[in-house]
Amino acid sequence: MIFRVFEHEEELASFAADHLIETIRSNPNGLMCLATGSTPLLTYQLFVSRLREQRVDYSNFHFIGLDEWVGIPDSNPGGCHYFLQEHVLKPLVVKNKNYHLFNGLAADLRTECLTMDEQIRKWNGIDMMVVGIGMNGHIGFNEPHSNPDQHAYLADLTETTRQVGQKYFVEKTELSKGLTLGLKHFFESRQVLMLANGSHKADIIRRTISDPISMEIPATQIRRHQNAYLLLDTEAAAQLNDDHH
Ligand code: F6R
Repeated sequence: MIFRVFEHEEELASFAADHLIETIRSNPNGLMCLATGSTPLLTYQLFVSRLREQRVDYSNFHFIGLDEWVGIPDSNPGGCHYFLQEHVLKPLVVKNKNYHLFNGLAADLRTECLTMDEQIRKWNGIDMMVVGIGMNGHIGFNEPHSNPDQHAYLADLTETTRQVGQKYFVEKTELSKGLTLGLKHFFESRQVLMLANGSHKADIIRRTISDPISMEIPATQIRRHQNAYLLLDTEAAAQLNDDHH
């Protein structure tokens, strides 16, 4: 794992956006998996605008969503589906055949996971996975003490995730389960970008870098990935010392 600290969030987002564009240039038929949330928002804005400005051909490139809250319809602005439509898929006018997102209202959630796994296989595996980091160290909805040896699955959400997740919704919302790519997908992904910004992430970032690698803090698993970047702004890196650097 390589980690880099940027002075401001804007520089982090600029670096990440360029990296995503490079992924498409080097494999125009490839597959990118996108997280949602506050962290990658600026990165996606720059990614979308630069991709268009630079006239990169992404007409055969594929996108999938990392996760989704169970019970949340596509039309709910707090959901992952809505976020990716609004910030990436609609602005880029990505064709339906070129993306796949979890349906949080699927009648059969097990089949929903198998369908996602199948889609990833069909698109020859994930070239690039963009992930954030939860306040409890989760990756996607891979919560502390979950099984890292899984592809897509139905996850029980921890109390922290249920509470922190309220920030995305206008009204108090029941969040108890999520559909998520598993850490098997994370390790199989040819490249990973993990992003963190803001002082509220400083403590979990210190633990991600200095705690033993274990599922107590799933994000520590990034240190085992062969081709991963951890990109931080100075606020998120505030509790790191020279030893870490
Ligand atoms: C969202 C996701 C989550 C978030 C994490 C950080 O698709 O997979 O794991 O990346 O909870 O969320 P923010 O960026 O809102 O701090």
